[in-house]
Amino acid sequence: MFVNQHHLQYLLEPVHYTDPAQLDREIRELMVPSWQLVASQSELPRPGDYATLNLLGHSLLIRNCEGTIRAFQNVCAHRHCQLASEPYGHSPVLQCQYHGWEYDSSGKTKKIPDARCFRPWDRDHSQLVTYRTETCGDLVFVALTDSPPSLREWLAPNFDDLERDFSPPEWRRCWNWDYEAPCNWKIPLENTVESYHVAMLHKKFYGSFYPSEEKSLHVLTDRYTELTYLSDTRMEAWQARLRKYLGGTPTNQYVHRHYFPNTVLVTTDSFNYGLTLIPLAPDRVRIVLRAYTLHGKTWNPITRLVTLYAGWAGKKYTLQVHNEDRAVYPAQQKGIEASRQKGVLGTREERIYAFQEYILKSLGLPLPVNHGCRQSDFHGTSV
Ligand code: FES
Ligand SMILES: [Fe+2]
Repeated sequence: MFVNQHHLQYLLEPVHYTDPAQLDREIRELMVPSWQLVASQSELPRPGDYATLNLLGHSLLIRNCEGTIRAFQNVCAHRHCQLASEPYGHSPVLQCQYHGWEYDSSGKTKKIPDARCFRPWDRDHSQLVTYRTETCGDLVFVALTDSPPSLREWLAPNFDDLERDFSPPEWRRCWNWDYEAPCNWKIPLENTVESYHVAMLHKKFYGSFYPSEEKSLHVLTDRYTELTYLSDTRMEAWQARLRKYLGGTPTNQYVHRHYFPNTVLVTTDSFNYGLTLIPLAPDRVRIVLRAYTLHGKTWNPITRLVTLYAGWAGKKYTLQVHNEDRAVYPAQQKGIEASRQKGVLGTREERIYAFQEYILKSLGLPLPVNHGCRQSDFHGTSV
């Protein structure tokens, strides 16, 4: 069931999707203080494997240090060079590519070539900047400041479920998809948290079908929103059969969770994924999808074939649906840039309302007069 029984006001203004100063505040005040999904442990399986990325103005190097994933600022303490530049790599030693300074797993300097030149040695000011990392199953999160609560608290009350649904050997990462879109980061986010567009944009896949309200359970909070869809469509029935075949207990559920501001985690009976939306400019976003398929509890050549097929089918479906969504993002960005409309949200889109209210409240921006719905109750809203 939906929480609201009346349509809702569209709370954000077009300027919130176009203004560089607004984006700057969203990054500094909403994203930097929260956890960011940056990697999978399975992307860095061997000690010495590393990945580099630019995240919200922070240059990061994520490294497997003797089996533990750690995050460093990708900037050398000597003369600021990036330690490494390629997106993925392997090196037995954490070493800067310029003059070869070496660091240990806590970021302290180890070997300095021709170290006599640096006497007397200032150990306290010669180390890498480090970031907190925590994991939930295979997923690796980084905190860009020290302020967030533990990852367990941030993902509460779903941490244990998510850890189960993103952990090998039962669930294995099968695919990463990393692409950019010419729109504000909130546009794909708002697309993914509503089912209203399904009958129009995805009619080839679903037919003209609206997921029924009776089977759609919305949870709206001030930290995250959630849709649990109890489905009997052919798709979910097929996934449930697959799960049973692989030794699991089917749920027949599609669970979509949006952790504010920019992390989405989706779980089903056979195919799960995490989504990170990284703003690059007011009208440009990088979207990273990390997909997992069920490998189950039993292993033999037939189950191996079945899981390969499930991974292939999940990838095909996800590509099709996300490309259909992606095709409309530029049109929505252009429309917002030209708009003099106020906009409106249906009850099926109430997770967008919760997200927009979170943005305005967290940034201390005014809510429209008579917006008519308090975060604490979400009931009886009428505009
Ligand atoms: S800048 Fe890194 S060793 Fe010189
Ligand atoms: Fe969609």
